[in-house]
Amino acid sequence: MPQLVFLPHKELCPDGAVLEAEVGETILDVALRNGINIEHACEKSCACTTCHVVVREGFNKLEESDELEDDMLDKAWGLEPESRLSCQAKVVDCDLVIDIPKYTVNMVSEG
Ligand code: FES
Repeated sequence: MPQLVFLPHKELCPDGAVLEAEVGETILDVALRNGINIEHACEKSCACTTCHVVVREGFNKLEESDELEDDMLDKAWGLEPESRLSCQAKVVDCDLVIDIPKYTVNMVSEG
């Protein structure tokens, strides 16, 4: 069973977390199931960027993002080469290290 290592995030998981995941479920679903409440303003329909995460390890093992996801990611706060929308990126048979960005676009616009 692959493991998802979440790096510490001040509000969402201050101590970080190591979670068991099933192949095929999304990174977001694994987080939510374990009480890490990553924002998902569009209810996982690839229409916002609030579920943005950076995959620090294992990024290259993931299925490539599609055009729609890439278009949305362009608008994300703190975009990095290993950025993904966690509601779209599915777990594969490989451990991942996930970094949740400090802000989302929603929070930035609220100041
Ligand atoms: S929840 Fe909106 S794109 Fe993932």
